[in-house]
Amino acid sequence: MPAIAIPKREADPVKRKLKRLGLYDGKRRPKREGELVLLPVLNPEEVRKLGYEVLAVDLPLRPERQIYKNLESVLAERLTPEELAHLRRYDVVGDIAVTQIPPELEHRVDDIVWGLRKVHPFLKVIARKGFHEGAFRIRDYSIIWGEHRLATVHKENRVMLRVDLSKAFFNPRMKGERYRLAQLVEDGERILIPFAGVLPYALVIASYKAVKITAIELNKEAYKLGIENLELNRKNLKGEIEFIHGDAFEILPKLTTFNRVISPTPRGVDALALTLSRAERWLHYYDFVHEDEISAFKERILRECEKLGKECEVRIKKVSDFKPHVFKVCADVKILEKE
Ligand SMILES: C[S@@+](CC[C@H](N)C(=O)[O-])C[C@H]1O[C@@H](n2cnc3c(N)ncnc32)[C@H](O)[C@@H]1O
Repeated sequence: MPAIAIPKREADPVKRKLKRLGLYDGKRRPKREGELVLLPVLNPEEVRKLGYEVLAVDLPLRPERQIYKNLESVLAERLTPEELAHLRRYDVVGDIAVTQIPPELEHRVDDIVWGLRKVHPFLKVIARKGFHEGAFRIRDYSIIWGEHRLATVHKENRVMLRVDLSKAFFNPRMKGERYRLAQLVEDGERILIPFAGVLPYALVIASYKAVKITAIELNKEAYKLGIENLELNRKNLKGEIEFIHGDAFEILPKLTTFNRVISPTPRGVDALALTLSRAERWLHYYDFVHEDEISAFKERILRECEKLGKECEVRIKKVSDFKPHVFKVCADVKILEKE
């Protein structure tokens, strides 16, 4: 696969330039190699003309792009290759598709709607998304086709989730993470989930394992949806869930400790000391970390363990790309038993 090797400091501007020229292969991941970054490119001839040496490197496909490929091939009959290079990934939540439309494709909104409906004929709503805002991490959406609603029922990992994207955070891309954690958990565990949202983690885990979960959520709308989701799934749950409406920072210090704590931490919030203090055996702590800061993040967790008199092993797992060089990560913190 064609790629160019660029010094780390220049990688972002070069990537932007290639994107603008329709020469960046957004379906593949760039890769760090020492002080260089390998950027995947399209159309090697054109890239050479810009003065870059084109190398043959195997850069893996971005997993989240694989579903996207269908849309791209459907739209290939209407969009130019340069326009296709600007297409953003999208998500399907129940019967709603959500996507970002960059300025370069503003004139192609109708074609994108057509393509999405062709790939997913069951869709009832197509919305374009802005960014997550505020402590409740709710996105700003505008509906570009279909019924005027952002509420739906989403199926994932054997559970049904009532979500309303205009009122509460929900991210379907965390499906694999929820499954991973559900498999790590053992029957009989007591689990704490602050920042619980509409209860996706709690319900998926309780559908697989006979556990006792305490979940906490501050956004009243997310809490109400979570209560509905408990009812919706009650018959299929092996475990029990206690759901508390309130501020995790006020409630956690009053709670006992738990075998396992899962913290789907809102971006920009530091809940490390708080959540670690409630964990007996495991903490799974989500955060957003620059690739250069991963060792520092690990060190910070180890220092926090030391402060609390806990001996820990920390493994950092990259969960998804957030923006160039910044990942959503999960720190799996194992708290060792003292002799
Ligand atoms: C990143 S979202 C994760 C939600 C859910 N766990 C999920 O994965 O869909 C963070 C959640 O924390 C909630 N939140 C923010 N601050 C909070 C606080 N101080 N106490 C409890 N929940 C809070 C937000 O409303 C949001 O639902």
